[in-house]
Amino acid sequence: MAEPIARLDDVSVSFGERVVLKNCSLEVPDGTIMCIIGLSGAGKSTILRLLDGLIKPDSGHVYLHEHDICHMRESQLIEMRTKIGFAFQFAALFDSMTVGENVSLPLREHTTLSEKEIFDIAMHTLDSVGLAHTYHNMPSELSGGMLKRAGFARAVVTNPEIVLYDEPTTGVDPIVTHLLTDTIKRLRKQLNSTAVVISHDLQSIYMMADYVAMLFEGAIIANGTVEDVRKSNNPIVQQFLQGSEVGPIPL
Ligand SMILES: Nc1ncnc2c1ncn2[C@@H]1O[C@H](COP(=O)(O)OP(=O)(O)OP(=O)(O)O)[C@@H](O)[C@H]1O
Ligand SMILES: [Mg+2]
Repeated sequence: MAEPIARLDDVSVSFGERVVLKNCSLEVPDGTIMCIIGLSGAGKSTILRLLDGLIKPDSGHVYLHEHDICHMRESQLIEMRTKIGFAFQFAALFDSMTVGENVSLPLREHTTLSEKEIFDIAMHTLDSVGLAHTYHNMPSELSGGMLKRAGFARAVVTNPEIVLYDEPTTGVDPIVTHLLTDTIKRLRKQLNSTAVVISHDLQSIYMMADYVAMLFEGAIIANGTVEDVRKSNNPIVQQFLQGSEVGPIPL
């Protein structure tokens, strides 16, 4: 594996009585696409929120490069987040702004670039996801797949080192799924960045993942290349990949 760019080290997270992550460790190798799989409610989105410093673990550490982000001051966290792009599950664009304004937002918040520079970068980024022509449209005028790509553009507009995608292909047809998967791969390469992708779509995962990690009952129970994980002799992993009702996973 390549050097890790991000790392969870022995992390535990609970919400009230509910233990979501328990002594969970995970390394995200630099320059790769890592997909995280697991049952609904397993804690996958929680891992992305930890990596972005949006929540802190009850115990354990979260590192970006060698920096422990759990002990950063808010000003350091804000600085760190410019290196991280987050593509939220439902794109989460602001309805009252044009697509171009939405994509420009991180540049306005985190840089001192001129209006012209912001426009040029936002337009270029929209172009890289095939949406330059939608710059002046409102989000409500876009299809579901286009909204997702606009969300990707906003996530990568600051040229982040690591991009977090939460269920980027949920709720779109198989052709759009293919297009979105291809876009994630292309953006990773163009930006020379790292991607962490949560997905339930096995076809899409097999197409893009360098590494796959499976989260189950608070910890990573399988982690390796697509081939490693597909060949895993862990019955929980096999039941999950086959989508079978029969097996050790409690239903
Ligand atoms: N802020 C919060 N407060 C209370 N409970 C929370 C909070 N965030 C997450 N949870 C709970 O933690 C568990 C894990 O949530 P998480 O969103 O990380 O799961 P997930 O694996 O992303 O699930 P899904 O596949 O459904 O998106 C769930 O039971 C959820 O209800
Ligand atoms: Mg989730």
